[in-house]
Amino acid sequence: MAKAPPPATTRRSPLTTIESSRDRERLRTVVFPEHSDLAIAVADRIVEVIQRETRARGRVVLGLATGSTPLGVYEELIRRHQAGEVDFSHVITFNLDEYYPMTPDSPHSYHRYMWENFFSHVNIAKENVHIPEGVTPRERVVDACAAYEDAIRAAGGIDFQLLGIGKTGHVGFNEPGSDAASRTRIVTLDTLTRKDAGADFFGVENVPREAITMGVATILDAKEIALLATGEHKAGIVARAVEGEISTDVAATFLQRHQSATFYLDLPAAAELTRINTPWILEGVDWTPAMVERSVVWLAERANKAVLKLSARDYAEHQLSPFKCSIGCATRFGDGPSCPTTSGCSCSRPIRTTTSSRWAAFCASCGKTKTRSSWPT
Ligand code: F6R
Repeated sequence: MAKAPPPATTRRSPLTTIESSRDRERLRTVVFPEHSDLAIAVADRIVEVIQRETRARGRVVLGLATGSTPLGVYEELIRRHQAGEVDFSHVITFNLDEYYPMTPDSPHSYHRYMWENFFSHVNIAKENVHIPEGVTPRERVVDACAAYEDAIRAAGGIDFQLLGIGKTGHVGFNEPGSDAASRTRIVTLDTLTRKDAGADFFGVENVPREAITMGVATILDAKEIALLATGEHKAGIVARAVEGEISTDVAATFLQRHQSATFYLDLPAAAELTRINTPWILEGVDWTPAMVERSVVWLAERANKAVLKLSARDYAEHQLSPFKCSIGCATRFGDGPSCPTTSGCSCSRPIRTTTSSRWAAFCASCGKTKTRSSWPT
């Protein structure tokens, strides 16, 4: 029986996440306002899985990713290992992918990436590391891919799978067109993926056209999946993967079928989720003054009108009617005086909104916006 690693001792203040309505989201998302908290939260989870599985089974199987996104997680895991908080001697790993062809000592190789950024700094056994071989002769690739699947099965399956997401929505190198039943195989890289990698290779023409990747089905077999995304350049594809229909056009949407898949996002990567971008569209919004202000500014931009020119119809057409309805009873919003033009107005205190310098009041009953100067004193 393997010796259980020591429990983690690091204590820090609780990590902050953004909590709000997830009505539109088809899988679990966690949004971190503090970018560095994301790596800490994912490392926390990985350490928990390592400790739980090594205690229960004497080993644990991790599926790992490369790219810029997981670097913070690897740094955090190395730090914890060096602090004596986590033992990797019973950890078995399977990487998602490797370019093809690619020699393991190339600066672009995912073998080299993994050893330089992670494995060399922890006590993992070399024989426990598995990464698709970019030097496999072409005629042996199909067998090598089948052997990779066999090795994952023989290890007992992946307990925790780490993923990034490409701008095409790929997970691993499952580019648009990959289906839910796909397994480890050789694939052609999407033009956008090659373009994105172009800077690392000093020109898109140097980026390999193919790669060996775990399939969508291989990934979905993992017991737990964590997809990480950071940066505004990922916001569009993240929103598509989280809120869009499942489709072979975006491999990451297949994660919606998994029982235990979570997207860990920093705020820029979450920026196009409905609950971050236009939360007023969702039920149960907390109409704080800041929320009112954001929604009105958004509406003015959307309707291409000045705030004072917005009509009740504009509010209604852009699903801001809940906002309008809430004004009548929500005197907490404003300290403005009663609407000057409406007799019998149920709204005794019109809401105040502002763009950078101008104040306006919006009456719930008459639906008109008014400048402050038109309020009675
Ligand atoms: C890497 C991998 C890819 C990346 C994705 C995001 O092993 O499988 O799917 O996770 O291309 O890359 P970064 O993190 O560099 O934006």
